Amino acid sequence: MTVMLADGRPMPRLGLGTWPMNDEEARQAVTHAISLGYRLIDTAASYGNEAGAAVAQASVAREELFVTTKLRGSHHGYDAALRGFEESRARLGLDYVDLYLIHWPLPGRGLYIDTWRAFVHLREQGLVHSIGVSNFTPEQIDRITGETGVAPVVNQVEMHPGFPQDELRAWHAEHDIVTESWSPLGRGSKLLDEPAVTDLAAAHGRTPAQVVLRWHVQMGAVPIPKSADPERMRQNLEVFDFSLSSEDLARLEPLATGGRLGGDPDTHVEL
Ligand code: A2P
Repeated sequence: MTVMLADGRPMPRLGLGTWPMNDEEARQAVTHAISLGYRLIDTAASYGNEAGAAVAQASVAREELFVTTKLRGSHHGYDAALRGFEESRARLGLDYVDLYLIHWPLPGRGLYIDTWRAFVHLREQGLVHSIGVSNFTPEQIDRITGETGVAPVVNQVEMHPGFPQDELRAWHAEHDIVTESWSPLGRGSKLLDEPAVTDLAAAHGRTPAQVVLRWHVQMGAVPIPKSADPERMRQNLEVFDFSLSSEDLARLEPLATGGRLGGDPDTHVEL
């Protein structure tokens, strides 16, 4: 199951998130995930687990894998971004990265446009197949696209039924940008215990997490649930053989209370 990116490259419809895992936890989780059939592995320089995530290539042909990593805030700027990329690539032990994202826009530093120029260069060099952003607003995306003529193909943002990103998703769709959802399960228990979710799970003979991940797929997003638990990893991947009706989807709408669990793109500083 893949979605076609605007640059013509296919991306898996669901992946494994690795935050917060250390190298050893990532090594174990990714090894198991690959054996279950996961092909998209999402890591980041700031997670400190790229070397662990690198184990993915041990058991599957490189072209079958889709490895995403992200540039940390301390490496914003043209030259710093090129250095940050080389460091990530060395930790990952890869010739190329499938998708490289600017992790946060850090608007206060005013460097994300220069950073994006470096990303365009990396793509031209073939060191990165696809380039995108994370936690960017439409205004910020318009700026980098306007300055360079190159649009990001993905924006990875916080998204779950509690924070469904309706407006941003509609804007992405108009601009041929794939929405990738971080914290797709709302980080676990509270969302998964909501009666609307557990009722739908019972009605479909599925788990609450499967209902929520299916919601992402039907919203057109690519979720990257994090789990270190083999049984949960298995169930999180099995969301392509059932579907939620429009009534089912409507039952999840009241969960949208508008609250973020993570950082606000305009103010969040992560170096
Ligand atoms: P664990 O790693 O012990 O499985 P998110 O991806 O939204 O950040 O959510 C991750 C959290 O949800 C983690 O605490 C993870 O715990 C938990 N989780 C992941 N998959 C499932 C599942 N299928 N059922 C219940 N909890 C899950």
